[in-house]
Amino acid sequence: QKEGYDHYMLKEIHEQPMALRRALRGRIDAGIEVPAWLLDHPDGVPVRFVACGTSYHAALYAVELLQKRGISAQASLASEFATSPPPLVDGSVVVGVTQSGETADTLGALRRASEAGARTLAVTNVVGSTAARECDDAIFIRAGPEIGVAATKTFSSQVVTLALLAERLADADTGILQALSTVPDALQYVLDHTTAPQVARTYADASAYFFVGRGVAHSVSLEGALKLKEISYEHAEGFPAGELKHGPLALVTPETPVFAIETGDHSDRMRGTVEEVQARGAPVVAVTHPESAVAAAAETVLPIPETHPELAGLLANAQLQLLSYHTARLLDRPVDKPRNLAKSVTVE
Ligand code: F6R
Repeated sequence: QKEGYDHYMLKEIHEQPMALRRALRGRIDAGIEVPAWLLDHPDGVPVRFVACGTSYHAALYAVELLQKRGISAQASLASEFATSPPPLVDGSVVVGVTQSGETADTLGALRRASEAGARTLAVTNVVGSTAARECDDAIFIRAGPEIGVAATKTFSSQVVTLALLAERLADADTGILQALSTVPDALQYVLDHTTAPQVARTYADASAYFFVGRGVAHSVSLEGALKLKEISYEHAEGFPAGELKHGPLALVTPETPVFAIETGDHSDRMRGTVEEVQARGAPVVAVTHPESAVAAAAETVLPIPETHPELAGLLANAQLQLLSYHTARLLDRPVDKPRNLAKSVTVE
């Protein structure tokens, strides 16, 4: 069933263009199906997301897209939401982002929200899952089955589905729909032309790996670090680029490559970040368009084609998935079944 790939993870990374075409089908011209109560929810009451792990990173990505459209939004880790729920006012909406639809922490948070009177929506991959059944409504990400423990294609499908949702809730056309229709081909281009195997080899002896970005690239930095630690067992951290100087910079040395993710809308500030870490001797890998100023300043580039800045994070994330995969291979890790982890975490 791996269809010639050595691992499910690599197969699923390569299935992303197809998965995204499926997620988008019929939803660009007609708009994605959204429950009326979400379309009509009161202005100023935040759309609250609850999720865990990779799905939480997709939720953070969505928060950025909604806020850019003037819609108040927040993402909480589901385990935190369940133990310390925020006060929910009338008209509150809570969106559970969960690939499996079975993650106990996310189900717990959704149940708390529902008990407190909020309307709940599941954004999930699995029709008939507990989240899909228990929430007031569900939207499906249509990624197809994901076998590898590391979530890859489901993250991309979540982001695309949530981008469609953000645009549907927005008052004005932001141009993202046209860009979304070209994203499967752009992602294919990244997969066909990646230099991730060489970059993985160059830094295989690193003592730690740092990922930094702003805006949607911040969520991608967290996801890049999670994927790398999960399957390679290497120390990796993601930071908002602006936070480096408030502490994490103390960790930066010539042995810690810094992956600077730049999506096209924070170029000047990211150049500053690159200079900050280079001054401490760290090699910089720019994950961005090759013509960008950040690429020019970096030692190495993991290139992505030019696209809408809100979608460039998805392309950058595919490069980081491949970086994790190839690093784990070099270190001889069991890519599809990393130690201590399960595909679906059904205990709180
Ligand atoms: C990471 C990973 C986990 C899941 C998390 C939530 O690669 O797979 O972090 O994203 O356990 O799972 P779902 O989306 O099924 O709720």
